[in-house]
Amino acid sequence: GITRHYKFNIVSTNVTRLCTTKSMVTVNGQFPGPRIVAREGDQLLVKVVNHVSSNVTIHWHGIRQLQTGWADGPSYVTQCPIQTNNTYVYNFTIRGQRGTLLWHAHFSWLRATVYGPIIILPPRNSSYPFPKPYKEFTILLGEWYNTDPEAIINQALQTGGAPNVSDAYTINGLPGPLYNCSANDTYKLTVKQGKTYLLRVINGAVDSDLFFTVANHNLTVVEADARYVQPFETDILLISAGQTTNVLLKTKPIYPNATFFILARPYSTSQGPIDNSTVAAILEYEIPSNFSKASSKPPIITPSLPQINDTNTAMSFATKFHRLVNSQFPANVPQKVDQQFFFTVGLGTSPCPQNQTCQGPNGTKFAASVNNISFVQPGRAILESYYFNQSNYGVYTTGFPRFPLTPFNYTGTPPNNTFVTNGTRVVVLPFNASVEVVLQDTSIFGTESHPLHLHGYDFYVVGQGFGNFDPYNDPKNFNLVDPVELNTVGVPAGGWVAIRFFADNPGAWFMHCHFDVHLSWGLSMVWIVLDGELPNQKLLPPPSDLPKC
Ligand code: C2O
Repeated sequence: GITRHYKFNIVSTNVTRLCTTKSMVTVNGQFPGPRIVAREGDQLLVKVVNHVSSNVTIHWHGIRQLQTGWADGPSYVTQCPIQTNNTYVYNFTIRGQRGTLLWHAHFSWLRATVYGPIIILPPRNSSYPFPKPYKEFTILLGEWYNTDPEAIINQALQTGGAPNVSDAYTINGLPGPLYNCSANDTYKLTVKQGKTYLLRVINGAVDSDLFFTVANHNLTVVEADARYVQPFETDILLISAGQTTNVLLKTKPIYPNATFFILARPYSTSQGPIDNSTVAAILEYEIPSNFSKASSKPPIITPSLPQINDTNTAMSFATKFHRLVNSQFPANVPQKVDQQFFFTVGLGTSPCPQNQTCQGPNGTKFAASVNNISFVQPGRAILESYYFNQSNYGVYTTGFPRFPLTPFNYTGTPPNNTFVTNGTRVVVLPFNASVEVVLQDTSIFGTESHPLHLHGYDFYVVGQGFGNFDPYNDPKNFNLVDPVELNTVGVPAGGWVAIRFFADNPGAWFMHCHFDVHLSWGLSMVWIVLDGELPNQKLLPPPSDLPKC
């Protein structure tokens, strides 16, 4: 591979959407941010210079960061934030991954405006395991807030209530013609008849899983989270927050004399407020020279999308994914498990602090947790504290519970006490342990789907189902042959999902709900994976420019 240099200037930029102009934090003045393009095997050096008053970090979502956990990015987990006028160079090499990922800020809710695509091409002299597309397009889904998203979450955390929802969804930063005052901000994808295009679809939305469709065109799914999958056809995609899906789109063999809406709208089982609006882009065909133009404008064809809470469609779509497994892309699914975990994920409450009035349920404060522990962000980076053996600083404690402390009927009647316990607790794993985690949704405020993201790893999704996980019967149906390999998985609403991975990447790795609202409420935890014996099994030393707290 080669070394590629990028420079990210974090600046304030005026951006106008929906007739509202606001100053927001961007990379290099671009919204969405610039594309990172590299080949598998390349080294990336991204110099981030912070010119704004807010702190910032950048996370390379889905990049494995083998031995380079210092470049992963989540603030107070692998690094202290980059402060105003400071610089940090993210230095990492892409190994064993190809396809599409995303990068985004990982401080507070900054990723609402600070995010962009990562395109990983096959190494030179190597090709896709599917016919070479005529052309490639990136479809980056996101959200637009008329006001400052940082202010929204900070206010919500102070009042203990739910934050305001976004004002629009976006495709490549543009809300499209279905919103007021937005027709000029429509993304157009122009194609030729009779060709195959690769669409790299990324869900960079802050708090939403999204259904995605293109009118009158089937899509062939070929890759998810930078891993190839066994191709399958679909007319609707469901992309959880933080997930990426590459699809092939075959255009009509003959000019159709029509344009087609590309739509995205949320899949949500939330009981709380949600932006249930639709972003549209347009697929238009180049008019062939021999086409005799009719006088009227070609019609726009509108597709239909599932209902917002269509969990059955969501589940049946998720079960269509199988990893592509062959001699070139072998799978390494743990067949036996050394370390077993059962994590409840869900929302809860915490007592309202004194001298405060809280707008959460019954005057409490909203909280979210894993195994009833609501993550408290420390004041120093967990990885540094671990690496320098500063356990006495009280940055974190070990002993994160492997199982819920008090089991209950997770998808039935919720327990009386919905209060969570606060803490910064980690699980410590020996190098190369084979790990299984069952993630169980809980129904404390009604069942709700959560996109769970693990840093530093891809994991195999070996099983999923509705209701409470049955530890005796459900494992009998696990797929240990060709399960899909992801970095972000949707925990089904009112259900569970089982994942497995080998703990072969030393460091401190965040695992959290990729809805920023749930992350802010504490739906996260941290794994510390110890070094192995061999030199290439050890975390590298921190770079000299690692930011200080
Ligand atoms: Cu894409 Cu910790 O996040």
